Amino acid sequence: MTSFNFAEALLAWFDHHGRHDLPWQTPDDPYRVWLSEIMLQQTQVKTVIPYFERFLQAFPTLESLAEAKIDQVLAAWTGLGYYARARNLHRTAVIIHQDLGGKFPDNQVAWAELPGVGPSTAAAITSICFNERVAILDGNVKRVLTRFFAEPGWPGASRVANKLWGQAESLLPETRFGDYTQAIMDLGATICKRYIPACSECPLMSRCAAHQRNVATQIPRRKPKRKKPV
Ligand code: ADE
Repeated sequence: MTSFNFAEALLAWFDHHGRHDLPWQTPDDPYRVWLSEIMLQQTQVKTVIPYFERFLQAFPTLESLAEAKIDQVLAAWTGLGYYARARNLHRTAVIIHQDLGGKFPDNQVAWAELPGVGPSTAAAITSICFNERVAILDGNVKRVLTRFFAEPGWPGASRVANKLWGQAESLLPETRFGDYTQAIMDLGATICKRYIPACSECPLMSRCAAHQRNVATQIPRRKPKRKKPV
């Protein structure tokens, strides 16, 4: 069997076809990356970009956000929806500014304790900003991995999610952790799409179990429906 390195194939693809000029990538300071990752939790990149830029004009620094009134923050969030994200963003700004002396945590475990930041968002932030070797598992990555392994289970089930976390960790490269995070998200968003995946452009195609079995569009499996009572 010839060897196939998942991370190497993905990084080589990313260098040529990934997204390298998103507004939060240059410069990749933690305030910008954190803000972008919160906005991107439930909103697509193309929608986020103008909000991101307007929000940064209103609150250019952690300090300005921490010292703002919540109503001002909610006003800047208007139109993005899921307003709990804005409330948690503000709470986290206050915690970092007041309790952590304005210093952003540099590891996933510490970030994941902050309001609105789950383990995947925490890993995205610290791999991108601090090159920490940690795996992400957002909706994009769940789609890539369930297809690559032809996972038959629903990724919302904790048994399946735990398995996917383990697979995500085992596929990590030995270097370039931030690039790898961005690469796997970009692959999920631009190639391994929900309804019409562009398999012929995918660097993982030759080893993708779902592609080989011609079942990519049936994976990830949807939430099983409850049986209706008779
Ligand atoms: N979705 C969540 N985070 C993202 C990022 N950094 N780039 C693209 N899509 C994302």
